Amino acid sequence: MSDPTVSDPAASDPAASDPAVPDPAVSDPTASDPKASDPTASITIQQALAERFGEELKVNEELPGLAALARIAGHRSHRRFLPRPVEPDLLRLLCACALSAPSKSDLQQADIVIVRETAIRKAIVDTIPEMPWIMDAPVFLVFVGNGARLPMMSKRRDKPFPNDHLDAFFNAAVDGAIVMTTFIQAATAVGLGICPISSVRDYPSIVAKALNLPPRTVPIAGLCVGWPEQPGEITPRLSLSTTMIENHYGDRDLIGEIEAYDRRRAALRPYRRQRRIERWGEASFYGWSQDKARQYAEPTRTDFGAFVREQGFRLD
Ligand SMILES: Cc1cc2nc3c(=O)[nH]c(=O)nc-3n(C[C@H](O)[C@H](O)[C@H](O)COP(=O)(O)O)c2cc1C
Repeated sequence: MSDPTVSDPAASDPAASDPAVPDPAVSDPTASDPKASDPTASITIQQALAERFGEELKVNEELPGLAALARIAGHRSHRRFLPRPVEPDLLRLLCACALSAPSKSDLQQADIVIVRETAIRKAIVDTIPEMPWIMDAPVFLVFVGNGARLPMMSKRRDKPFPNDHLDAFFNAAVDGAIVMTTFIQAATAVGLGICPISSVRDYPSIVAKALNLPPRTVPIAGLCVGWPEQPGEITPRLSLSTTMIENHYGDRDLIGEIEAYDRRRAALRPYRRQRRIERWGEASFYGWSQDKARQYAEPTRTDFGAFVREQGFRLD
């Protein structure tokens, strides 16, 4: 179920069956010396994941790549940055690494917009006044799903394009999200901090106008990037027994699991304030599930589907 090859079988992936696709060497040049032992990194990983999931995980200190795993396990979003620029060459390098990510059928349907002009960034930030860190971040990017190139190529090669349906939008959106995730890994590897910004979809038409987005493109998320001012904190996640599924979904006490998470998270990272007290009152215990239920009791982005259709995607 969770194996991506099941839902995207090689047989239906033109790139996978294309004899022109080169067969790359199997060795991984990035793997570090497997004999190197790194007890510090293994302890860092264990501590981060214990805080994240409330569980002691076994970490073999002789595994290669422990420093990379420690960075991933210790992820935290940053919203305060030092007034130190990110060099354009470094940014270009990180974009190139991000755009090296896997891509559905090798279609390459993700773009990265580097918003350098203050007026453009301001036009976007003015739609999100509650998030001043967007203006303060040394770099602001927008990751875009680009479904324009594929039908353009079909037309140019005089071919029909009978695949103009929800999957076309979904593929471009997934490629955009994967490229953003890869950018985050690359940026974090050099010590930068990041904060994704889905609020660029709050008023997507304004963002589309500011970025001059062509038809069949859609903003996936923004990303603040900079040198972190503070170390930041780990945010606990739902337990692995909730989100790591063996083979298939079965009967479970999901409510009990979420309530246990609410308590574990409240003990480590209690919410500083309750959402919309004037509407919902003050809860004696305010956990994650209460916060998310309150957040999603307000309508948000109800016009996003209309925007995506206006951009030229068909969602049938
Ligand atoms: C797709 C996406 C969109 C997000 N949008 C926002 C946003 O608009 N504003 C914000 O401050 N944080 C945003 N975040 C950051 C999340 O709030 C953050 O990842 C979450 O609270 C967990 O915290 P952590 O990243 O420190 O583990 C976003 C994260 C993702 C993955």
